[in-house]
Amino acid sequence: MAKTENGFILALDQGTTSSRSIIFDSQLTPIAIAQKPLGIITPKAGFIEQNANDIWQTQISTAQEVIAKAGLLATDISAIGITNQRETTIIWHKKTGKPVAPAIVWQDRRTHQWCRDWRDKGFDAKIQQITGLRIDPYFSASKIVWLLNQNPKLRQQALAGELAFGTVDSWLLFNMTGEHSIDITNASRTMLMSLQTGDWSEELLDLFDIPKTMLPTIKPSDGDFGVTKQGMFGKQIPVTAVLGDQQAALYGQGCNRAGMAKSTYGTGCFLLMNTGDKPCVSHQQLLTTVAWQTTAANHTRQPNRHEPSGKLPSLLKPLQNLQRNKKTSLTQTQYALEGSVFMAGAIVQWLRDNLGMIARSEDVETLAAQVPDSQGVTLIPAFTGLGAPYWRADATARLIGLTRGTTKAHIARAALEAIALQAYDVLIAMQKDSPVPLHELRVDGGAANNNILMQFQADILNVPVLRPTTTESTAKGVALLAGQAVGLYDDTSIGESWQLDRIFEPKMALSERQAIVERWQFYINQLLNEQN
Ligand code: G3P
Repeated sequence: MAKTENGFILALDQGTTSSRSIIFDSQLTPIAIAQKPLGIITPKAGFIEQNANDIWQTQISTAQEVIAKAGLLATDISAIGITNQRETTIIWHKKTGKPVAPAIVWQDRRTHQWCRDWRDKGFDAKIQQITGLRIDPYFSASKIVWLLNQNPKLRQQALAGELAFGTVDSWLLFNMTGEHSIDITNASRTMLMSLQTGDWSEELLDLFDIPKTMLPTIKPSDGDFGVTKQGMFGKQIPVTAVLGDQQAALYGQGCNRAGMAKSTYGTGCFLLMNTGDKPCVSHQQLLTTVAWQTTAANHTRQPNRHEPSGKLPSLLKPLQNLQRNKKTSLTQTQYALEGSVFMAGAIVQWLRDNLGMIARSEDVETLAAQVPDSQGVTLIPAFTGLGAPYWRADATARLIGLTRGTTKAHIARAALEAIALQAYDVLIAMQKDSPVPLHELRVDGGAANNNILMQFQADILNVPVLRPTTTESTAKGVALLAGQAVGLYDDTSIGESWQLDRIFEPKMALSERQAIVERWQFYINQLLNEQN
């Protein structure tokens, strides 16, 4: 697998709830991990923020810690890969590097009305055609506009070219290397990038009145992202790959052929299906997104470069696939269809932190195992609105079907079922967009270790759910790409390192499955009709 026995890759995985650093050896095996939790701030209903300096400090301290933990020196690290929570928006002063405000987190709903106004003006189709996305507070564009509109001084500074915008990858890169850049997968989540050109859309920047000088340079995912600043580690280390966390998980799960899909159960639940080298335009309210873009040097290492894109023929409406980036080096782009569900692991955190029902997140499995089913209790977890395929930023959560006999265990069970049922809704939509039937689903993320949840997921989807031995697919994906860029791994690496831990075969009777799905859809429809 490895071209050389020497060398380690440092993967930085900056997520919504924690900053993690993991070292992978030349066999793509994780050998050490360091992790620090990261809190959220909720100053008002619908507002979700994070301290941008804490994002950086927790990340860099775990990076330094993990090298020591692995018993290595900085000179042993061949390259760094960065993967991150996407869409979260940070604006900082170019000169001082100081953030102008807290980071606005992807789950934040404060720009709901702004988004609704643009939808009411009939811009949904245009936005989808340009960016592959839907108008929603989830993406960075409305968050940038909100920050600039809040404070006229900020707009002036932005116009004078003094401010920089970035998603979390840009923010980490700026602090780490001094560069102001963004990889294309993260850029594709801003609602400002054209899928056709792979560059910022001048039309959208004009429309939303966002000064272009704020924006980072878009680079391929295995681009040259610079080297770490002097003194940060024992030597200057190159950053050779950046991927949004869900795209990294798709790569790390080996989903490199059109039709392969994975579901990551982190804060939210993100189901991505590789659609090959053509973007698949969704007719089911899913998102079209860049899975990764690699440079010419890595093409020989792209396992699916000869995969016939005709596998997804009828529904593909190809936009112009990128042939060359701005610097005219050859690039190859893979696309994905995505269903983004905003609350998954975060529902369990809510049971733990807000209701005090469990002491640790993992205890939810034992609690839910006390009962065979939820006894009719249904949780619609619209705590931060509803994402795909409903896109209702205004929706709020509800717990239905409580009786005198309802216990904590029934509520825990309903919470786990809600995670799987949201993934079911996304998958049904995905199957309508793609004529390739899904034969299996690869899973990862913290909650993928919950056996009750995974069995229920297989039962409800009626397809086998495959859990690999390492559920660290996100870090692994970006480590793989970073290592490919420096010749540490080749195209056999992922196949050799992906090992099955367990297959969850569907077991539920059809009648039971139908009853659960019908009850869920009844309450979802009720909510969609009531909250408008
Ligand atoms: O789009 C949001 C996503 O990237 C957040 O991921 O792992 O922090 O739940 P995570």
